[in-house]
Amino acid sequence: MTEAELHRAVALGVIATAIPTWLALRYASAPYGRHTRSGWGPTVPARLAWIVMEAPASLVWLAIFFAGTRALAPAPLVLAGLWQLHYVNRAFVLPLRTKPDAKRVPVLIPALAIAFNLVNAYVNARQVSELGAYPTSWLVDPRFLAGAALFLVGRTLNVRADEALVALRNEGRGYQIPRGPLFRWISCPNYAAEIVEWCGYALATWSLAGASFAIYTFANLAPRALSHHAWYRATFADYPPERRALIPELW
Ligand SMILES: NC(=O)c1ccc[n+]([C@@H]2O[C@H](COP(=O)([O-])OP(=O)(O)OC[C@H]3O[C@@H](n4cnc5c(N)ncnc54)[C@H](OP(=O)(O)O)[C@@H]3O)[C@@H](O)[C@H]2O)c1
Repeated sequence: MTEAELHRAVALGVIATAIPTWLALRYASAPYGRHTRSGWGPTVPARLAWIVMEAPASLVWLAIFFAGTRALAPAPLVLAGLWQLHYVNRAFVLPLRTKPDAKRVPVLIPALAIAFNLVNAYVNARQVSELGAYPTSWLVDPRFLAGAALFLVGRTLNVRADEALVALRNEGRGYQIPRGPLFRWISCPNYAAEIVEWCGYALATWSLAGASFAIYTFANLAPRALSHHAWYRATFADYPPERRALIPELW
């Protein structure tokens, strides 16, 4: 088996994993944040869990990327820059913005996330700096330009929505109904924007690797958006009735 064949098999495996992930999360929401509940084994502080589980998506990704023979070429470097723009914030900035408190998550959550992030780092970093063979002219290809634009729009909205939610949380008054333009039509703009972001990255890399992560992200976040939405409706009698979970007017 060549490395290209192995890489393709692993990316297809990520897509296959999206199906049980979707089914499991529709059945039971992942037990962290507002859906925390007992019975999921030992726990660790939430801030530590976020840093430890997301760091490999930045650092291991970089190590694999720089092991590639095309790592120093312009197009791979730009694609790496997009990836790191997201993950440096997710792993090292966002967790430190959240006030440390007694909130804990079951060890199972970071353990599963680390395993996924290691596989995903291999699939996507190897694609960009070795197997994809992106020439410099890729940077003016319409697929790259449209994908990068979509990625940057998604990234901007994801960060803004997360920051608004973390600011609400840091007020120390418990969960509240989020307000403002991003939350006008949907309950989870941070998740919607993250899905858009990785669809953009898939387009910008025009690869099975990128598509596998976009599909997995959807399978992971869409059920959670439905759980959050149901929770908001059950918790707040005055929750805006026109608000949907993930897609304005639809869903
Ligand atoms: N690519 C993937 O597969 C994937 C998977 C998971 C997460 N993510 C991303 O990681 C980021 C964080 O995810 P998450 O699941 O933690 O998002 P979340 O449930 O929306 O929570 C984000 C932060 O805001 C707080 N918060 C949320 N709603 C609030 C409200 N109504 N009132 C007060 N505080 C509120 C949360 O506090 P609590 O923690 O106390 O609830 C948490 O600190 C998102 O951008 C998400 O897209 C990506």
